[in-house]
Amino acid sequence: MSILLTGGAGFIGSHTAVELINAGYEVIIADNLANSNKKVIDRIEKITGTRPKFYEINVAVKEDVYKIFDENHIDGVIHFAGFKCVPESTRIPLKYYRNNLDTTLTILEVIEERNCRALVFSSSATVYGDKNPVPLKEDMPTGSSTNAYGSTKLMIENIIKDVSRASKDFSAVLLRYFNPIGAHPSGLIGEAPDGIPNNLMPYVTQTAIGVRDHLNVFGTDYNTHDGTGVRDYIHVVDLAKGHVAAIKYATEHVGVEAINLGTGKGSSVLDVVHAFEKANNMNIPIEYGERRPGDVDASYASVEKAAKLLNWHAEYTLEDMCKHSWNWQKNNPNGYEDK
Ligand code: UFG
Repeated sequence: MSILLTGGAGFIGSHTAVELINAGYEVIIADNLANSNKKVIDRIEKITGTRPKFYEINVAVKEDVYKIFDENHIDGVIHFAGFKCVPESTRIPLKYYRNNLDTTLTILEVIEERNCRALVFSSSATVYGDKNPVPLKEDMPTGSSTNAYGSTKLMIENIIKDVSRASKDFSAVLLRYFNPIGAHPSGLIGEAPDGIPNNLMPYVTQTAIGVRDHLNVFGTDYNTHDGTGVRDYIHVVDLAKGHVAAIKYATEHVGVEAINLGTGKGSSVLDVVHAFEKANNMNIPIEYGERRPGDVDASYASVEKAAKLLNWHAEYTLEDMCKHSWNWQKNNPNGYEDK
């Protein structure tokens, strides 16, 4: 079976490509390298022994997506392509609406025209908003978002649900990611943020390697066990395996399902820092600061639906995630720019 990964050179896409190849799928990657690097394709080949087919295109451009469908038989699409920086989306909302919606609309139109009925979409736990109690369950009401990035995820979920209602043989899985961290155990692929990282783990690893002199802990008065924000951190390889299970599900069923990909366990910012220090035997200097606007106290997943429908659950521990994040960072101090 051949699976098209839009945004397949990115952090989650590249790990998913590896797991799909390991599971026997043929992988075709479409990526405009807006926030990724072509070297990823070499690294995927190095890990798996198989080079995925690569198209350097913008998947918002229909003619370019047609070309992929003309040249390949595509059984399913995993749609990762999209911008993901929350603060940037607040500063430049139209960039997010234009790109994230355009890419999705093109993919939806082409898969309909070309009779490819299985889609997996990269959604986010952000769609739950800040009013639901934890653990977050798929049948809870989706909230309103405080940023344009989150709004695009919510809008796209609704667009896909409308398409599903109108087309009885269409199948989609909306994967609601919690907080992916870690890296492939080989240290060959990982997260390579452009500029100052927004997310916790890349900031921790850059502090560990000395690019940043300390980690700022955003807020100490949250309603959590130690006052710092609690999140459900999931190893990116577990997350990638969740996509393999989801595309299998989508090719075998019709209709649309939203499914959480998380571990079901919450860890605070300080839990992560301490786990990282212990796993890698080093000290991370921290400074306590103000809350970051828009952050919630705690977010972690209910994981029953993923177990039931996808027969999938996360296996790696927080210690593994910390070890593998550091292994990636220390082998690639400047991301993909080095080798
Ligand atoms: N944090 C710090 N210091 C930092 C960075 C983060 O203390 O330098 C804290 C945050 O306040 C939060 C936790 O670490 O408590 C995790 O923050 P991240 O930015 O790593 O992750 P978020 O949970 O804020 O964001 C993630 C995804 C978004 C998604 C959001 C909501 O990165 O794509 O979850 O689901 F929108």
